[in-house]
Amino acid sequence: MRSEIAEQPAALRATLDALLPQVGEVRRLGEQTRQLLFIARGTSDNAAVYGRYLIEAHAGRLSALAAPSIATTYRRRLDLDGVLAVAVSQSGRTEEIVETLEWAGDCGARTVAITNGGPESPLALAADLALCTVAGEEKAVPATKTYTTQLAAMAVLALGLGADVNAADLDRVPDAVDKLIDNPGDLDALVEGLADKPGVVVSGRGLAFSTALELALKLKEACYLHAMGLSYADLLHGPIAVVDEDTPAILVAAQDGPTLPGTIALAERVTGAGAAAFGVGGGTRLAAVSTASLHGPDLPEWVAPLGLIVPGQLLTEALARRLGIDPDAPRGLNKVTQTD
Ligand code: F6R
Repeated sequence: MRSEIAEQPAALRATLDALLPQVGEVRRLGEQTRQLLFIARGTSDNAAVYGRYLIEAHAGRLSALAAPSIATTYRRRLDLDGVLAVAVSQSGRTEEIVETLEWAGDCGARTVAITNGGPESPLALAADLALCTVAGEEKAVPATKTYTTQLAAMAVLALGLGADVNAADLDRVPDAVDKLIDNPGDLDALVEGLADKPGVVVSGRGLAFSTALELALKLKEACYLHAMGLSYADLLHGPIAVVDEDTPAILVAAQDGPTLPGTIALAERVTGAGAAAFGVGGGTRLAAVSTASLHGPDLPEWVAPLGLIVPGQLLTEALARRLGIDPDAPRGLNKVTQTD
């Protein structure tokens, strides 16, 4: 896991080089698109949450996450005319994802696959257009480089759908990630602050909500820590009651953008309740009100999630080892890779 985290700058560079030339293909396929439907599971589902917020906030199209059970269990046909269905799977071999993409095509949707499984994977073959990430084989069970390269593919998808963002920002991503790997911030304080805790709340808003969900998943799968990933709006509607001296909060935000002031206010509320508030990103303003913090990338808000998860991946790997767990092979999940 540690070496695959370090491979991310190269994987991101290779993926952007491969996919940016496909922006025109996305534009042609997406011309009649009214709405997007993302199909994914696990970490790939968290990449889809980034895609959903990115497309709604910056490309102005309603976007939803599919419930694959509608296709595979209830077998209900829906009218998906005008829908672009985007299936995301690192392996390209998760059966219910392939099946749900085929169902979406049968229901009238145009279909895109985002996969690290290559152009011959079942998912890529089933789609009208494949955006193949170039992460290389991922051996550790917890997804790292396949996740951040899926986010890069989401950014390319958004550009093809006319997002009002500056494409040149993507050029800055690999270097920004590299810097975080060298200097993630106060990792030891977060490891010690979580090592004896029964649970943690992980929260973010807007585009950073996807990072909160993914960090919570990493902490659950590799550290067996009861980590709840919530948007901070949802957190404030009840679940904040669980935050106390035994249950700290990790708050994730880009260094600027519209969600930062609310994240700072939340950190103050958490520490006011006697709990530790650990910041991830959010620049010096979030760090100033946090108990301890990890650095975020020096990137604009729309691309910040491509780097924001990286200190969280390093935290997960270090905490797993501190707890005596092998982060490469935690219990609970058997990985399907592109060579299976
Ligand atoms: C977690 C992880 C899983 C997968 C999920 C879907 O780190 O890797 O949650 O994301 O099993 O697998 P794929 O993406 O291959 O469809």
